[in-house]
Amino acid sequence: MKTAIAQISQISPKKELLQNRLVITGLEGKKPLAGTIRISGAKNAALKAMAAAVLFDGPVTLENVPDTADIHTLAEILIRLGAKVAFEKDHTFTVTIDPTTIAGTAIDAESAKTMRGSVVLTGPLLARFGRATFPAPGGCVIGARPIDLFLEGYKKMGAAVSENGQYDIEAASGLAGAEISFEKISVGATETLMMAAVLARGTTTLKNCAMEPEIVNVAEWLNSCGADIRGAGTPTIAIVGTAGKLLKPSASYVTIPDRIEAGSYLFLGALCASELVIENCRPDHLQAPIELLKKAGVPIETTADSIRIVGNDGPNTSFKAFDLKTKEYPGFATDLQAQAVVFLTQASGKSDVYESIFEGRFKYVADLARMGAAIEQTSQREVRIEGPADIHALPEGEQLNAHDIRAGFAMVMAALVATGRTALSNIHLIDRGYESIEAKLSALGAKIERVNN
Ligand code: EPZ
Repeated sequence: MKTAIAQISQISPKKELLQNRLVITGLEGKKPLAGTIRISGAKNAALKAMAAAVLFDGPVTLENVPDTADIHTLAEILIRLGAKVAFEKDHTFTVTIDPTTIAGTAIDAESAKTMRGSVVLTGPLLARFGRATFPAPGGCVIGARPIDLFLEGYKKMGAAVSENGQYDIEAASGLAGAEISFEKISVGATETLMMAAVLARGTTTLKNCAMEPEIVNVAEWLNSCGADIRGAGTPTIAIVGTAGKLLKPSASYVTIPDRIEAGSYLFLGALCASELVIENCRPDHLQAPIELLKKAGVPIETTADSIRIVGNDGPNTSFKAFDLKTKEYPGFATDLQAQAVVFLTQASGKSDVYESIFEGRFKYVADLARMGAAIEQTSQREVRIEGPADIHALPEGEQLNAHDIRAGFAMVMAALVATGRTALSNIHLIDRGYESIEAKLSALGAKIERVNN
């Protein structure tokens, strides 16, 4: 059955969703969880494929799309621009997007505020229609998140950019190929300029690119539909533009497994599961965290598409603490930093964790300290942890919030190993990136429920 997206999505969380909380009963430092987690499609790849749909001359089909809130938000934005979007739910989503009815090129401020990642749409819109409007971004919970790299790139490709509370980007006679060397490595800027260049006149060379697997996933699909993108997954990407000729939807897009969801459950499993199989994932996309956890002593085995934690019965104190610095792929992902920190609160020894991608990603640290963790923020980008420390639920009346998608997951991990019951608020943020978190965890034996009050 196809479901119209307009019936099942929301631009900003409804009041009752904002009031939802997860109530988690702590396992008191023990590791009784066991079972299998099936990993969903990568939201950060599917979102970019949804944006790339704008480059096509007919409806495109996207498979293995996760049922997470950000996907619905971007669908709603596309609908507001005039696209037709339909969802079909089996055990995953298949999303069909018809871009031929798009009439607008301005992304509204409310949507852009809800999902900063919607800026990627400006690339395909500019490529197809010669103009795009995006509201000037403010800060967001994890940092300033400027869009200067996008704007510099567009200018190099011949577009005019004017700013007046919003950015109006215009290239009336189409974008022209250019050589763009990014001053900083950015996932979003790499993907967006890559997509913008697909319909340009001439060749665009992007240098100092991000190398995340999600970029490769989208590039390979676009190539199977007539684009000419070379080097995705390396620091230099060259795109030979079609000079305005739209892509043909000759192949469906299939979303790769979400490496961040898999990595999150890997840290959770190391912390509180005696046995865990993480299936339908790509261990080769998670080399940095797997290596660190193995060195810490976590019993991990991998196949091409699964990760297993086996015989993880001993106390967490038997794991050795490690230092960590987040980096661009293939380095340790910033999106796994908070989950690693919660793991380290229970390992033995001191750890220094340095966040090199986003400057505001330690908001959850004060909450962990309130729960009893021996953790201290030593600078804007660094925390020091000394483990193991007993973690407890907060006293009645004290509030625990998810601060962002990933810190929200990390708080669930902390609540799971704590003594007592924890109520976690602001969980619409977790829903932005994790499909059915309470169902997946309940299946492992966790006591976790969603309540509305
Ligand atoms: C993507 O964000 C992901 N989001 C993030 O995942 C992820 O944390 C991040 O990449 C890093 O891996 C999506 O894919 C939707 P960046 P993105 O541009 O593209 C600076 C999650 O939880 N920068 O690689 O926005 C920026 O401020 C989310 O799923 C500029 O200075 O990240 C940051 O310091 C959160 N100027 C650094 O680059 C620009 O024009 C890297 O950010 C653009 C970025």
